[in-house]
Amino acid sequence: MTKPSTIRIGICGLGTVGQGVWKHLERSRADLQSRLGVTIELHRGAVRDLSKRRTVDIPVEKLTTDALAVATDPSLHIICELIGGTGLAREVTLAALKAGKVVVSANKALLCDHGAEIFATARKHGGHFLFEASVAGGIPIIKAVREGLVANRFKLIYGILNGTCNYILTRMVQEGASYPTILADAKRLGYAEADEALDVDGWDTAHKASILAFLAHGVWVKTDQMIVEGISKITQADLKHAATLGYGIKLLAVITRDFEANQVFVRIHPTLLPKDRVLANVNGVFNGIAVTGDVVGTTTYIGRGAGQDATASAVISDIADAVALLTTGKAPMLPEEAASIHDRGRNPSIAPLDKIRSRYYLRMTVKDEPGVLAQVATVMANHAISIASVIQTSSERSDAASLILTTHESDERAMGQTLADLQKLSSILEAPLLLRIGDFEE
Ligand code: NAP
Ligand code: HSE
Repeated sequence: MTKPSTIRIGICGLGTVGQGVWKHLERSRADLQSRLGVTIELHRGAVRDLSKRRTVDIPVEKLTTDALAVATDPSLHIICELIGGTGLAREVTLAALKAGKVVVSANKALLCDHGAEIFATARKHGGHFLFEASVAGGIPIIKAVREGLVANRFKLIYGILNGTCNYILTRMVQEGASYPTILADAKRLGYAEADEALDVDGWDTAHKASILAFLAHGVWVKTDQMIVEGISKITQADLKHAATLGYGIKLLAVITRDFEANQVFVRIHPTLLPKDRVLANVNGVFNGIAVTGDVVGTTTYIGRGAGQDATASAVISDIADAVALLTTGKAPMLPEEAASIHDRGRNPSIAPLDKIRSRYYLRMTVKDEPGVLAQVATVMANHAISIASVIQTSSERSDAASLILTTHESDERAMGQTLADLQKLSSILEAPLLLRIGDFEE
């Protein structure tokens, strides 16, 4: 293999993340060059709108609107795909891999939807795909699971994987600020996706969970094989009730493995986490992930999960790995080699969602009249659901009360049937809110 003395990089997409990469790579270029023993050139960039003002000084002659021309430019060795989405981003990625290049990506939606195709294309054409920035922003969680924890089998991985949602929930608790105001701030700060529904409805967390599940267990779990719920129904009242009960509410990805049944469960939902758990105290744009391995026990990772600088840090770490790969031939482990060395080839199946077990929190707006609590308790008893606690408070409606129940452990099937039956009661005035309680055994 001839070792190139100059590595040329093309960046497709110079928005929040792309400009961060350009800025920090320029700043750290001399240091990186001396550490890696090559000259690094930021050669070309692709954007949608050439006339847009950028916060980073990028020579206009280096820019084009033709991202595919950058992806296939024979003079480039590394292509950063920082456009987002699954349309042009997929074309750019596949074109660069077919040309044998190293693609560095922060695109979790693309990986979740097209991961199998991307890795197959890379293998077939001698390209490589690196994706540290796709999960948990600046936290090197991909490296941790793929390399640092390779001796382990993972019975539980759970975490806060979306900076925008954690930022919103934190400010709702700490300031009582309104949801639309905080979401607008998250967008201004560059945390939110171009389509913010991906964040607040849980899909972005689901994409990241899919990637972690693949690294840990070697199977692609699609979003329609997961429970995916977002944070938009969480009210200030829920946050207060949870606090009274000793919990914080976090949007979590929970990936569990039943080794006996050889099944993987993936779920994304707002979760009541006991306040003494580390992740219950991870706030703002920070992400946190607890990974329980059978050899190491539980290791926990905390850091900024979104935003320009944190994400640029992860992209640049992949660029450094890409340079090492191009100059020494040392490639990172392929994802299918990543799942625990004891677990490779076992191909777990994806568990039916109604088997997922949990304790539950249920908030109902009910008629404020005698017998209502008894009706609710009867419905729950009919489905063998045992009530653990009850709080009744006043409601915004004068004729109604808020009823907040927690349950002992049950499963999704029983809770689904319970919810359906509760909604048939004329004393239940609005659709109940169901949240899961995260008493995880680490
Ligand atoms: P962004 O600010 O919206 O930037 C997207 C960039 O792509 C812009 O520069 C845009 O050009 C360019 N682009 C869009 N359509 C194009 C086209 N047809 N041809 C050429 N260029 C095109 O997005 P971002 O926040 O940087 O996110 C980029 C990726 O990183 C996404 O996959 C996202 O999920 C991921 N990510 C983001 C974060 C974060 O905190 N923001 C963190 C981790 C991962 P113009 O500038 O001219 O409009
Ligand atoms: N929108 C994402 C978030 C960006 O808020 O976590 C980081 O992936």
